[in-house]
Amino acid sequence: MARAPSLTATYEAAPNIALVKYWGVRDRARAIPYNSSISVTLDRLRSRTTVRFDPALKDDEVELNGEAATGGPRTSVVRFLDRVRELAHVTYAAQVRSENNFPTASGLASSASGFAALAGAATSALGLDLSGRQLSQLARFGSGSAARSVFGGFVEWRAGVHSDGSDCYARPLYGPDHWPALVDVVLIVRAAPVKTVRSEDAMQATVATSPTYRRRLSELPARIRKIRAAIGARDARHLFPLVMEECDSFREVCETTRPSLDYLTTTTRALLAEVRSINREAGRPVAAYTHDAGAHLHVFTLARDAPKVRRRLGNVPGVERTSILHPGPGGRRIA
Ligand code: PMV
Repeated sequence: MARAPSLTATYEAAPNIALVKYWGVRDRARAIPYNSSISVTLDRLRSRTTVRFDPALKDDEVELNGEAATGGPRTSVVRFLDRVRELAHVTYAAQVRSENNFPTASGLASSASGFAALAGAATSALGLDLSGRQLSQLARFGSGSAARSVFGGFVEWRAGVHSDGSDCYARPLYGPDHWPALVDVVLIVRAAPVKTVRSEDAMQATVATSPTYRRRLSELPARIRKIRAAIGARDARHLFPLVMEECDSFREVCETTRPSLDYLTTTTRALLAEVRSINREAGRPVAAYTHDAGAHLHVFTLARDAPKVRRRLGNVPGVERTSILHPGPGGRRIA
């Protein structure tokens, strides 16, 4: 006889940084993106989420970083729980407690880790026992990038071709130990603007108005193939220029969106220029920058170059803090 689910579970998941960006949804109801994307799940940072379903509760209670969530953030969690309840054929309300071990305001994507952890905790609590693939298919409804945070290391989220989304899921390409020398120097910049438009709306504005979006889509399959191969071969010489080309393409479609989406500060732009100078002076791609829809910068480099790169970029005026991260593990149940 199947054991009755305990109705409570705790799950941890980490943020990821995209090397190939997800930006644009082909089918909003099914959360199917226009293009596949590739990311690195990061170590040390995590969201830890406990979900307790309780037949005696009247309404969902959502607490994020010690405070009761309200408005948009609460609504997103409740909608996500609704989806899980439907899957499990239950109607119980839930108590959700989620905490990040990094400041949410730091601009490091907490929606990816948060929704990957919520997907894991809520489904485990109801005894759904989903596979990684199924979890990633579910997590994307909370936040697209959460589909990738289900797995550790290097991850590809395939857009798929089926209109029902059945082949739209993330899969691990290489585990966190695949490339120990690869380092992510994270640069937190001062006075990073707070996002006024949610990413899920911003990306649809790009789809509708950027004159270069279609060209970006047509370039992506070849870029994805090359990036996948360079990761597989641990080939920084090929990977780093491709990562920057992709970031520049993402930034271009944002900037040509009407009204324009400008996520960077003067400091971020100075950092991009500094990375280009470092590479020019060395006569080889020492480092590769990438950013999401925000002003903070991730700079990939190899361990032997990391101290120098960190020092040089850390001296750019307006940098508040630098930290060193590596590829890390995927989501897991801890209680
Ligand atoms: O997962 P969302 O809906 O927050 O969108 C993420 C979009 C980017 O971070 C800019 C790119 C990506 O693939 O993570």
